[in-house]
Amino acid sequence: MSSIVTVSTNPYEGQKPGTSGLRKKVKVFMQENYTENFIQSILDANKEALVGSTLVVGGDGRYLVKEVVDKIIKISAGNGVAKLLVGQNGILSTPAVSHIIRKYQTLGGIVLTASHNPGGINNDFGIKFNCSNGGPAPDGTTNDIYRLTTDITEYKIVPDIHCNIDEVGVSRFKVGEGEFVVEVIDSVKDYVEYMKSIFDFPKIKTLLQGSELRKPFKVLIDSMNGVTGPYVRRIFLEELGASMGSVRRVTPLEDFGGAHPDPNLTYAADLVNEVKNGDFDFGAAFDGDGDRNMIIGRKAFFVTPSDSLAVLASQLEHIPYFRSSGVKGFARSMPTAAAVDRVAEALGKEMFQVPTGWKYFGNLMDAGRLSLCGEESFGTGSDHVREKDGLWAALAWLSVLAATGKSVEEMLVAHWQQYGRNYFTRYDYEECPSDPCNEMMQELEKTMTSPGFVGSQHSAAGKSYTVALADNFSYMDPVDRSVAMKQGLRIVFEDGSRIVVRLSGTGSSGATVRLYIDSYEAKDVLGDAQQMLQPLIQVALDISKLQQYTGRDAPTVIT
Ligand code: G6P
Ligand code: ZN
Repeated sequence: MSSIVTVSTNPYEGQKPGTSGLRKKVKVFMQENYTENFIQSILDANKEALVGSTLVVGGDGRYLVKEVVDKIIKISAGNGVAKLLVGQNGILSTPAVSHIIRKYQTLGGIVLTASHNPGGINNDFGIKFNCSNGGPAPDGTTNDIYRLTTDITEYKIVPDIHCNIDEVGVSRFKVGEGEFVVEVIDSVKDYVEYMKSIFDFPKIKTLLQGSELRKPFKVLIDSMNGVTGPYVRRIFLEELGASMGSVRRVTPLEDFGGAHPDPNLTYAADLVNEVKNGDFDFGAAFDGDGDRNMIIGRKAFFVTPSDSLAVLASQLEHIPYFRSSGVKGFARSMPTAAAVDRVAEALGKEMFQVPTGWKYFGNLMDAGRLSLCGEESFGTGSDHVREKDGLWAALAWLSVLAATGKSVEEMLVAHWQQYGRNYFTRYDYEECPSDPCNEMMQELEKTMTSPGFVGSQHSAAGKSYTVALADNFSYMDPVDRSVAMKQGLRIVFEDGSRIVVRLSGTGSSGATVRLYIDSYEAKDVLGDAQQMLQPLIQVALDISKLQQYTGRDAPTVIT
């Protein structure tokens, strides 16, 4: 029998979960009791529901995951949790955690990831709590967790539980009078079974392998040494019969092999080059924890996440899941280009615009009002789980391509010709000093809300824009009526073009400024995005004085 030990501790400042959990440098989490405090606070936020509950635990394989899984096991045992479902070796993708929570109806799950941030001892770690619907904890819960971290005085732990998480199987421990169970589960099995029920795998297999009617469709799937490696191997190599040459970086590594596991044109440049120079029809990459995706076509034709969402929205009849569950509404985050809005209008579906952060989609899905949603930050997903889902997005695209027989580029061009095109770009200024950035946001808000700004004209490179609306975006959830304020500065012009400026909620040090530009063209749909958007970008830089405040004359990343 093992006994529970109560350890005294002192609060740490700054354990406030951001857009997606608590993210800090690994070394911050390694401070004495830092991680223990946060785990105890997560458990306490669940109040009476915790005792006798089951929780899911897993992460993206980055440095510290295994150590923290061990702490979660011991602290859960000390707090009356009845059972943990732990991914083998601590491996579970974020969408897989969401699915497992829902499938086994657990109280929630703890996801160990800093998503797309680099890993390794000198980089980032993160801890996130997901609730019983499988989605990231809403603001109410994360505020509770934070409050608990500020006055924590002790945590409860069972130090002499030793559990091997390398092998699938069930371990039972006697703790006090009760029993505590750890079930180590196959990291990919439940998820793969679920994907097979959502998509028509034989049809995708025929696409990849070719038929009398069509030559094999060549794909290159890049896991960026993140958590999706084993999922990609099982799905693409075993289920869909793709060759080893169709996948890359499919072994999860603690430091992602030095890669910055964020699937975009900058950080996944080597995938882009391989597809550009090789004979591939389709490329996809996923981030560290498997919820983000980037889709490219032949010769690395780039699909913006905003367009990806719009195209999928218009083609859902090719996916068996939607044929049986029906298509409810669509949604996007506010900074995401409005391409999907036009599809919603054409199909007569409800359309929602929420703040940045996947958690805002959850209530709409639970209320049966939302089927498909996405974010410009390379997130696409549906109500099959309560997280965005990178692999799901790639399988969705392959389903559409198999059904239509079109190439990726042909799909996009046809879409733009039908609906017009929302040109979109995002400029990121990463890890700037915080104070001047906060000042810039305050000044910009002042400018935007001063009398006369609405109606004012702004010109650059021969184009003029008249302001129709300027605000700091706020959102009232139509289901529970909770309000999220100050979600990003937004300037909307009379022609529907938009400038959005916000500070990232996911960085681990300094401030990252994001500038989003969205401009609609009904007819001129085949232009180069950066060129088409130049005038509006200039207007945005002028109004925000961004370069002056950040001291940067160019963004770190352009997507
Ligand atoms: C994470 C969340 C997304 C969100 C993104 C925004 O990836 O899961 O839902 O869109 O962060 O990050 P940011 O750095 O812009 O706050
Ligand atoms: Zn992620």
